[in-house]
Amino acid sequence: PEPGWTTTADVVVIGSGIAGLTAALRLRHEVGKVLVVTKDVLAAGSTQWAQGGIAAALGPGDTPHEHEVDTLVAGAGACDRAAVEVLVTEGPDAVRELIALGTNFDHNPDGELSLTREGGHHRDRIAHAGGDATGAEIQRALIAAVEQAPEIEVIQHALAVDLLLAEDGGVAGLTLHVMGEGQRDGVGAVLCRAIVLASGGLGQVFAQTTNPSVSTGDGMAVALRAGAVLRDLEFVQFHPTVMYLGPESRGQQPLISEAVRGEGAFLVDFEGNRFMQGVHELADLAPRDVVAKAIMRRMLETGQPHMWLDARHLGAAFWERRFPTILATCRSHGVDPVTDLIPVAPACHYASGGVRTDLWGRSNVPGLYATGEVACSGVHGANRLASNSLLEGLVFSRRIATVLPGELRPLMPPVADTRTAGLVPGVVRRELQEAMTSLVGVLRTADGLTDAVALLDKLAGVSAEAIDQESWETTNLVTISLALADAAALREETRGSHWREDFPERDDAGFAGHFDVVMSDGAS
Ligand code: SIN
Repeated sequence: PEPGWTTTADVVVIGSGIAGLTAALRLRHEVGKVLVVTKDVLAAGSTQWAQGGIAAALGPGDTPHEHEVDTLVAGAGACDRAAVEVLVTEGPDAVRELIALGTNFDHNPDGELSLTREGGHHRDRIAHAGGDATGAEIQRALIAAVEQAPEIEVIQHALAVDLLLAEDGGVAGLTLHVMGEGQRDGVGAVLCRAIVLASGGLGQVFAQTTNPSVSTGDGMAVALRAGAVLRDLEFVQFHPTVMYLGPESRGQQPLISEAVRGEGAFLVDFEGNRFMQGVHELADLAPRDVVAKAIMRRMLETGQPHMWLDARHLGAAFWERRFPTILATCRSHGVDPVTDLIPVAPACHYASGGVRTDLWGRSNVPGLYATGEVACSGVHGANRLASNSLLEGLVFSRRIATVLPGELRPLMPPVADTRTAGLVPGVVRRELQEAMTSLVGVLRTADGLTDAVALLDKLAGVSAEAIDQESWETTNLVTISLALADAAALREETRGSHWREDFPERDDAGFAGHFDVVMSDGAS
């Protein structure tokens, strides 16, 4: 569509979670105008929902090396070791910077930072805030800092539609669909010298997810259409303990943080058996993929739609102090974790893959950087280690802010809108999510993936009549689902969060490396 308005900026940051706002704050004195655009309000993304915390080797006796080892093991042989080294080495300073910014992490009575444990960690290394409201506190502190920074301009309710490219194939700007921002209403264009993509994940591709409604894979789809390489899309992490609300429940589901198991809760089946014992040396605190698979196996063996989390022994006072948010959420659904077992089942939680970047957050498109969940920096491999996600956004946004000012491109005229095909209507979204969940979800087979691709191809051909946010998002969901299903079909082994019923073993001898996805012919 023709833009109804045009503006300029030096750097546009797309997204306003930990990754986006860290990049904006760090860049604001290094480049001219920094513009943050975000699809909803500043706090609507996934950061706000993070419970457990942020991992870094901050405790006595802990080292970045030990954090690295745990990250590599969880990543099931598919991490980029250099990227993991960057993450764990720069992590402690990055968290200290967050504290200096005003984030109030929880402390022990002796004044030391309170650190807890989550799946796959051999040490207590997860800093948390408000008990189980870590993301909300980080988001609060970042927004407060941005509000004090007049150099940063923000446009809320602004969906990134597509990148505008210059003649050399690099960034020239982007088009936005803005809803209700006075003069900047409808589709407009921002001409700029660099873009930092920090728009989060794709959880809404599935019928049940811990992700908020804004996580529709927009950033990955926008990047793909602009020629960026996406990597590791098949490694979608399913969180093991998401509260089960019944067979009809759809969309964002309540997370029961791994930190609850970190503080002593354990999984049981309908007979009361602790089925994680004997599955892994860390039992209920095994890496996330191991726990999610064990729950799914027990669900399939017993024909039950969920398993149970037993945290009754933590007691009322501990629950109220340590997990007030989860306690309130459970109670609002009629379950009191002080006296009741919590029904739990795996649900989509995190995209370990995304826009492929180097160690400085650069994509293959000149002027396009990516950070946080939208990116694939290589730190997560086939299965992200618990609480490494906030850390990744923080560390790699700092890195981008180090190199980007020296790499700023001139403002260049755009040659073409990167969108080459029509829009898909929102009405197909439900069918897409059901198919992705049953055919491309926790358990995958070649036949199921073939059926999924056929259905997605069909949905991609349905034309939207209205040009609105719903159809932009649904088109992005179709684009990303197709890429994800293709990558899942190519990986004929079970590794990390990618579980193939027809190839049930991890195949180290035949490891195919990483699957890079590019857009071949302009299909949407
Ligand atoms: C959780 O609190 O269990 C989620 C932590 C994470 O996704 O890393």
